[in-house]
Amino acid sequence: DVPAAGTAHAKAILFGEHAAVYGAPAVAIPLHALTATAEVSPLPEGRLVLDSELYSGDAADAPQRILPLSTAARAALALSDRPDLGLHLRLRSTIPYERGLGSSAAVAAAVARAVAALTRTELSAEAVHDVIMQAEHIAHGRSSGLDGRAVASDAPIRFQGGAATAIRVGAPFTFVLADSGHAGSTSVAVGAVRELREAFPVRVDGLITRLAALSEDSLGFLAGGAASDLGAAMFEAHRLLTELEVSDPSLERLVAAAESAGALGAKLTGGGRGGCVIALARSAEHAPALADALESAGAARTWQTTVETA
Ligand code: MEV
Repeated sequence: DVPAAGTAHAKAILFGEHAAVYGAPAVAIPLHALTATAEVSPLPEGRLVLDSELYSGDAADAPQRILPLSTAARAALALSDRPDLGLHLRLRSTIPYERGLGSSAAVAAAVARAVAALTRTELSAEAVHDVIMQAEHIAHGRSSGLDGRAVASDAPIRFQGGAATAIRVGAPFTFVLADSGHAGSTSVAVGAVRELREAFPVRVDGLITRLAALSEDSLGFLAGGAASDLGAAMFEAHRLLTELEVSDPSLERLVAAAESAGALGAKLTGGGRGGCVIALARSAEHAPALADALESAGAARTWQTTVETA
């Protein structure tokens, strides 16, 4: 047995975060520049030894937040014909944690792929997704599966009810991601929306319906290369997410800064209450100035990504 590797990229949600938890459609894009890579080699006695930025040592002594990692490894092993194999698992990731960029799902996907390579198991897309969902359940509690589908797809996707399809993009769109520098817990944000919905069902269902409509509208804008319309829908989605109480002052500041810097659209992305903003640049040439404006407004980091025609 030689060490085997698996990798997965980060994602950004363009439309439909939170609404997806209630069955609404969502749209997500891959972030190929940020990746998680898992390297596994066999250990004799069924032990699981982890080597990651957050923790190194025996999985049995790992802190709670490492649990998704060992869950993914064990779930992937269970699908192989060597379920009792011991593993040394080395994880390296450039995806920041708790920023709504899908780091936990990407880590689980990378682990599933690495374990499959090591054990020479053919994992179907559904099997990889199943491993991710087991790890996500530990990381986030209730999850729509949107992150898991998005990190496993090389193309932008439309997601609904657990399933994803690749979508058509009629012109390149350049986005700038800006990290507020504040951690956002998806499970806390999802729980807060659930409580808000229990308290104000009509109002919250109305917001979810409008977020769902923006997801559907955006498919036409993406296919038609309609950048201004796409951007306007992003600003509107951000206003609705703010009403859903998942924004915060640092995200508001970044969205306002993007608008002042001429972005066609901007919104929080992922669970919110910390995490990142995604802004639509006027063109690839506009993106560096937009990134500078976001950094001046307090962004800890920015990344640029272009969704190509497909
Ligand atoms: C988190 O990236 C996306 C949410 O919609 C949660 C989920 O879909 O499970 C907030």
